[in-house]
Amino acid sequence: MGVAMETTPAQMPAPAKVFLRCSGLSKSFRMGDSMIQVLKHVDLSVKRGEFVAIEGRSGSGKSTLMHLLGALDVGDSGEIEYDDRQYLLLTASQRSFLRNRHFGFVFQFYHLLPELSVLDNTLLPSMVQYSWLSFHARKSQLRERARQLLDSLGLAHRLKHRPNQLSGGERQRVAIARALMNEPKVLFADEPTGNLDAETGLQIMSVLQKLHRQQGQTIVMVTHDRELAREQADRVMLLQAGRLAAEK
Ligand SMILES: Nc1ncnc2c1ncn2[C@@H]1O[C@H](COP(=O)(O)OP(=O)(O)O)[C@@H](O)[C@H]1O
Ligand SMILES: [Mg+2]
Repeated sequence: MGVAMETTPAQMPAPAKVFLRCSGLSKSFRMGDSMIQVLKHVDLSVKRGEFVAIEGRSGSGKSTLMHLLGALDVGDSGEIEYDDRQYLLLTASQRSFLRNRHFGFVFQFYHLLPELSVLDNTLLPSMVQYSWLSFHARKSQLRERARQLLDSLGLAHRLKHRPNQLSGGERQRVAIARALMNEPKVLFADEPTGNLDAETGLQIMSVLQKLHRQQGQTIVMVTHDRELAREQADRVMLLQAGRLAAEK
């Protein structure tokens, strides 16, 4: 018996949806008696699965912009939207929820807690996520996830070490494991290789590349290093004099 074939219009791949967007974003800081305007009406759209680099000189406002996009700080004016959530409408606890459950952060100087082991540093986002009781109820499962992440980053033999017993590259891999602990939808990286020698920096970039290529991780990286930005990202934006534009 013949099966009636339904004719469908040629399937067009759906355009990737904008995931994270800011428009008209401005931010100033007071310096003594004067104000310096760091961001001037910045517009940016990041699609799901994209790896975007924001490049600019030191002091150009890259970290400021990343902090605003990552809901770590608030702008003076303009809008930011992530996956249909407008930051202006979020309460402080909703912003914390967003940072903890949707975003991961990697910083130039790692920001690991010196008194905690590698394993406990990696577990931190899940300690924030759950109440004390729920964390302890899930502890073995969460430890296993942290262990697997650290193992995938080549740190299986460093679980009990403290950050000051690790090399820079190892510290940054712990910071990446911590950032991935809660399966972030967007990974923000602020000069992730800025404190590392060239070779170690490339190892860190290959970790980010693998996440992006194999798992479709959305990444927003800021860096002063034009070459690195061009080599690594799908798209490079240049932040200059407070304005953001596609790099030529
Ligand atoms: N909390 C702050 N208070 C005052 N000025 C700040 C603050 N954060 C950043 N700035 C100033 O804003 C400018 C941009 O800083 P930043 O975003 O850190 O630049 P970048 O990350 O590109 O090096 C710099 O001139 C810096 O001194
Ligand atoms: Mg910076």
